[in-house]
Amino acid sequence: MKINSVFISNFRSLSDFSLYLPQKLLIKGRTGSGKTSVLEACSILSSGKSFKTNDIKDCISKNSQNFYIRSDFNDFEGYSRTVSVGYDRSGNKKILIDGTVSSRKSLLNMVYPVIHSPDDMLIISGSPKFRRDFIDRICFIEDKAYFDDMSEYLRFVKNKNTALKNGNTEVVKYLNSAAVPLINRIRKKRNASCETVNKFIGSLSERLFSKMKIFFSCSIDENCAEKLEMKLEKELEKGFSLYGPHLDVINITTEIGNAKNNISMGETYIGSFLIKLAELSIHAGKNEYPVFLADDIFVFVDDEMKKRLFNEIEALKNQVLMTSSIENINNFNNMKIFYLSR
Ligand SMILES: Nc1ncnc2c1ncn2[C@@H]1O[C@H](COP(=O)(O)OP(=O)(O)O)[C@@H](O)[C@H]1O
Ligand SMILES: [Mg+2]
Repeated sequence: MKINSVFISNFRSLSDFSLYLPQKLLIKGRTGSGKTSVLEACSILSSGKSFKTNDIKDCISKNSQNFYIRSDFNDFEGYSRTVSVGYDRSGNKKILIDGTVSSRKSLLNMVYPVIHSPDDMLIISGSPKFRRDFIDRICFIEDKAYFDDMSEYLRFVKNKNTALKNGNTEVVKYLNSAAVPLINRIRKKRNASCETVNKFIGSLSERLFSKMKIFFSCSIDENCAEKLEMKLEKELEKGFSLYGPHLDVINITTEIGNAKNNISMGETYIGSFLIKLAELSIHAGKNEYPVFLADDIFVFVDDEMKKRLFNEIEALKNQVLMTSSIENINNFNNMKIFYLSR
C-alpha cells in the first residue's frame, strides 16, 4: 500500500492543501500548523476513521459545511486507485473508490494504516480497554474471522444484559452456556496474539532497547463456564454482565514488574512505539505492508534512541508518514522533509 498524493479541502485548519507523498516523509512545522491533520486525513482515506475523534464532523473546518479529501494510491497488489471521502455537517458521507460509490467496509478491505501517536502510550499506561483494542487488532490481522466472533460476542453481551435487567435467570443461563465455545475461541485467539506480539517485541527490544521487555497477557482462563456461573448472582443483582472477553484484563508486564507503575515517560513512549513496530512485523509476516502513520515522533526520547528508531523506520518496507515539531530531527538520510508553514 502506498499513498502517492493527498488533496485536502476544508479539513480542520487546512482549507486547500495538496501534497505529494514519497515512500518516507517527515512533516515538520510549528505547533498548530496542521501536521496531525494531514495524517488524520490519510487515516480517514485509508480506513474511513479518524484516530483523533469519534465524531468525524469535528474535522469539518469551522466555517465550512463539508470537507473533501482525496488520494491517489497503489493498493496491496500495486494497482493504481483513487479514493475520495466527503462528509457534511448533517452526517452525510460519500466514499468513492475509483469513482464508484462505496462503503466504509470496502475501504477497510482495501487499505488500513498502522498508526502511532503519543496517545498510544495509553496502551501501556491506560485502562485495559486500550490493550484489548490493540490485541483485538492483532487477532484480526491473524484471522479475519475474528471480527465475526467479536461481533457475535458483543451481541451476546447485549442480549444477556437485557435478560439480566429483566431478572430472567433461565434465559441468562441458556445464553451463558451457548456462549462458552465462542468465549473459548476468543480467549484462544487473544492468547495466541499475545504470544505473537511478545515474540516480536522480544526481538525488537533486543535490538533497540534491551531494558524494555514487554509481555502481554490475558486474564480469561479455560474455566470460563465456571466463572460465568460464579458471577451469575452478582450479575442479576447489578443487572449487567460482569465477566467475559469484553472485560478481559490484559496486562503488560516488563522485567521490573507491572509496566503501568514502574516505567518512565520516555520508556512508555519507546514501549508504545515498539508495540506498533511489532504490529508492522506481524503484517510483514503476512506479506502486508500498510502505511505507517507516526504522529509527533520521538517525544520524550534521547538523541541516541531517536537515531536507533529512525534507522528502524528507514529499514521498513512500508511507506512511513511522520510528523514532528522537534527541531533537532533533521539529520537523517533518505528522509524527505516537508515544512508546513502556517
Ligand atoms: N474543525 C476545525 N476547524 C478549524 N480549525 C481547526 C479545526 N479543528 C482543529 N483546528 C485547528 O487546526 C490546527 C492544526 O491542528 P493540528 O493538525 O493538530 O496541528 P499540529 O499537529 O501541527 O500541531 C489547530 O490550531 C486546531 O486548533
Ligand atoms: Mg500534532
